[in-house]
Amino acid sequence: MNKTIFITGTSSGLGKASAKYFAENGWNVAATMRSPEKETELTQYQNVKIYKLDVTNISQVKTAVADAIKDFGKIDVVLNNAGMGVYGALELAKEEDIDWQFAVNARGPINVIRAFLPHFRSNNGGMFINVSSFMGITTAVPLGSLYNMSKFALEGLTEGLYYELKPFNIDLRLIEQGGSSGNNFVNNMVFHTDSDIKAYDPQSNALKQMFENVHTQLKEDTMDIVCVIADLAERRSNKFRTVIGESGNHLMSLRQSLPIEEYLETVSGMFV
Ligand SMILES: NC(=O)c1ccc[n+]([C@@H]2O[C@H](COP(=O)([O-])OP(=O)(O)OC[C@H]3O[C@@H](n4cnc5c(N)ncnc54)[C@H](OP(=O)(O)O)[C@@H]3O)[C@@H](O)[C@H]2O)c1
Repeated sequence: MNKTIFITGTSSGLGKASAKYFAENGWNVAATMRSPEKETELTQYQNVKIYKLDVTNISQVKTAVADAIKDFGKIDVVLNNAGMGVYGALELAKEEDIDWQFAVNARGPINVIRAFLPHFRSNNGGMFINVSSFMGITTAVPLGSLYNMSKFALEGLTEGLYYELKPFNIDLRLIEQGGSSGNNFVNNMVFHTDSDIKAYDPQSNALKQMFENVHTQLKEDTMDIVCVIADLAERRSNKFRTVIGESGNHLMSLRQSLPIEEYLETVSGMFV
């Protein structure tokens, strides 16, 4: 019997590329997104079913999970991919954007995981693959503290759940990508710069410039990340944590080899 993967955030980027890859490689796919009415590509696949799902909406999560289980019978892997970035100085951030950052990137996976636990326990197994970032294990850019907070939270959640879910044969995996081409991440981000406070301008400008150039600088393609996810889902790799990409691996090795004070000074020197 074909295996089934449930994916959040399949309207673009990594989520959509993963949905297509799994659909083309013998899996059934429960593809979830906030606006299914706009989807034209994934609707072409017979083995893909699309469900409306905003990860911050608990009743929508419960409905989508129940419907997918009803349609496919068994879900083998859940890819918690949906995410977005709130960037800019903490002092300038709107209250609702602070809450939203946590709601989407940390509370969202919590909502999805909780909805799947009864199913996975009754199946005596399952796998959650949580899409983190190199910003979940390293602090790498100025004015990224809220995004860092959300992905560090996802990392802590995933490590903590490892122990809790081991007795039920439920596997947890984390991927930390360093960014890739082929997604809408930069377009979807919230960036706080409009303010009378000019003190943060040098850092804001440096970060804006970095994001403007990000797609020309990145060597990784979204498919490189999809292949890592496929290796995990197919159990060709059993790594708990996979760091993907040159920049992420470079920062990780700095983080692991330098005393924290030296790491922080090194990274801050890269931008201003
Ligand atoms: N691109 C990078 O540089 C980078 C680096 C490290 C980690 N990541 C992580 O990789 C994951 C995928 O991002 P991406 O690069 O593929 O960017 P992307 O193209 O912007 O994809 C993000 C997806 O998440 C969805 N989403 C956002 N808020 C949602 C919500 N409340 N409920 C459900 N879905 C929601 C978006 O849907 P809508 O179309 O409805 O907004 C979109 O489908 C994210 O978790 C991101 O944090 C990205």
